[in-house]
Amino acid sequence: MSNQELIDLLNQDLANEFAAIIQYTTYAAKVTGPFRPELSQFLLAEVADEQGHAKFLADKILVLGGEPTTQAASVAPANTNKAMLEAVLEAENRAIIGYTQRAEQAATLGHKALSLDLEDMIRDETRHSEEVSKILDGWNL
Ligand SMILES: [Fe+2]
Ligand SMILES: [Fe+2]
Repeated sequence: MSNQELIDLLNQDLANEFAAIIQYTTYAAKVTGPFRPELSQFLLAEVADEQGHAKFLADKILVLGGEPTTQAASVAPANTNKAMLEAVLEAENRAIIGYTQRAEQAATLGHKALSLDLEDMIRDETRHSEEVSKILDGWNL
């Protein structure tokens, strides 16, 4: 793994963070039903974390000599509350896997602080994943 390969992967992560911001924002608008106020607020509350992740990644890509992408990855289409939460859960779990790999790759290249910061992001995404998971666990109760 070269520095350039790490920059490219961090840019994919950045595109995914932009997608997460779009996903949470549009889903917050789309949720319906008696629990719309709670679901909408829950989804919107995640945006600040994802925006923080995006800013962090853009900063680090620049430090490594790269150019941060301005393109978001695609957002999964979903049209029911449950489908939206399932899409969010899948995206969060993908982020956990991605940052786990990225933390190891950064450490291998000697970027110890970056690796630790990426581990913090694993913690954030894990918290997001667990909260969504708990909502889905009780969906049919
Ligand atoms: Fe994130
Ligand atoms: Fe997240």
